[in-house]
Amino acid sequence: MPADGPSEVWSEGGRTEIGIVGAGVMGAEIALIAAQSGFRVVIHDVDAAAVDRGLAHARAVGRRQEAKGRITADDLTAALARIIPASDDDDLAGCAIVIEAVTESMEVKRALFERLDAALPRKALIASNTSGLSITALAAATGRPERVLGLHFFNPPTVMRLVEVVRGERTSPETADAGIALARAMGKTPVVVAECPGFLVNRVLVRAMVAAYRHATARGSDPGAVDAAVVEAGPAPMGPFALGDLIGLDTLASIAGDLRSAYGERFWDGGALAPHVAAGRLGRKSGGGFLAAGSTPGAVDDPAREAARAYYSEAVDEARRCLAEGVAEPDDIDVALRLGAGWSEGPLAWEGHA
Ligand SMILES: NC(=O)c1ccc[n+]([C@@H]2O[C@H](COP(=O)([O-])OP(=O)(O)OC[C@H]3O[C@@H](n4cnc5c(N)ncnc54)[C@H](O)[C@@H]3O)[C@@H](O)[C@H]2O)c1
Repeated sequence: MPADGPSEVWSEGGRTEIGIVGAGVMGAEIALIAAQSGFRVVIHDVDAAAVDRGLAHARAVGRRQEAKGRITADDLTAALARIIPASDDDDLAGCAIVIEAVTESMEVKRALFERLDAALPRKALIASNTSGLSITALAAATGRPERVLGLHFFNPPTVMRLVEVVRGERTSPETADAGIALARAMGKTPVVVAECPGFLVNRVLVRAMVAAYRHATARGSDPGAVDAAVVEAGPAPMGPFALGDLIGLDTLASIAGDLRSAYGERFWDGGALAPHVAAGRLGRKSGGGFLAAGSTPGAVDDPAREAARAYYSEAVDEARRCLAEGVAEPDDIDVALRLGAGWSEGPLAWEGHA
């Protein structure tokens, strides 16, 4: 049971129970990390077969870690034994916190938050791993909005070190502190983000990506050449077209569309995504997207360099807007882009000497 102060919340070590609802890609790995950090984990999914698949995924990820010498076979066995499948909401009643990682739908998540609110003790926290839905709106489905927060893990959670701790309008400072402490206890680097559409990393990164798409589309530039120019010109490890293919162009189109609705035309992609999505070229998962498998990039020319300049200048502009709006502290903005997007340097630090 969580105590009132954050310093006490996770102090019960192995006796603290964490609930995970939604045993998909994200939930299964978050469960593994929590169990490997010594917590007891109760995992639940509407689909009982999904729990089995999630546990199999967690086991497979753990075996790969073992093969790389990162954990011992005994530690993995002990961690997996700490993950207990739940058959209904009542099995979550002993949890200090439940982290929800179900399908990205406000309707589905709100219905779940209402049920969790009824099933959990008053002091328990409820966190959402949503990539962009409003924490404030989810919290409003409960009678404990001050105990609701976002804990946004990045994919794959076992590898990515960043967790955005998202404060909704009514999230209490104690709850945010407890989120920070939990992320640290799970070996992650937390960054506190005041709720805004896209939160922090996706907001800055998608702004940069669509800027490059807009420029490249207007000039008919080769995507591979733009990617090479972006990697050459600044701290991003991968260009926006390759990254789009990795994320999935349908997923990206939906995120970019939401951000455009929220912030306006600076999030317009120049019409780059729709034709690919309509043709079923969704990126790596469909065998091709912006970049055809095995294609060689064109030479980096002036239009490609111009698209790269737009990529970085718009990333910096969005980072500055986040700063001005109080979304996050300057150092946290830079840490978030380094750990959440793999940049070798954050946009604000980079801008200082670029
Ligand atoms: N996949 C990513 O790259 C990524 C990254 C960061 C955050 N997220 C967020 O994490 C969440 C989960 O994403 P995912 O990719 O793991 O999805 P997924 O589709 O792999 O898994 C979702 C799981 O939730 C279950 N579910 C649906 N409704 C439920 C309910 N009412 N109660 C219990 N279980 C329910 C489904 O059966 C499924 O097993 C989403 O909010 C997503 O936006 C995803």
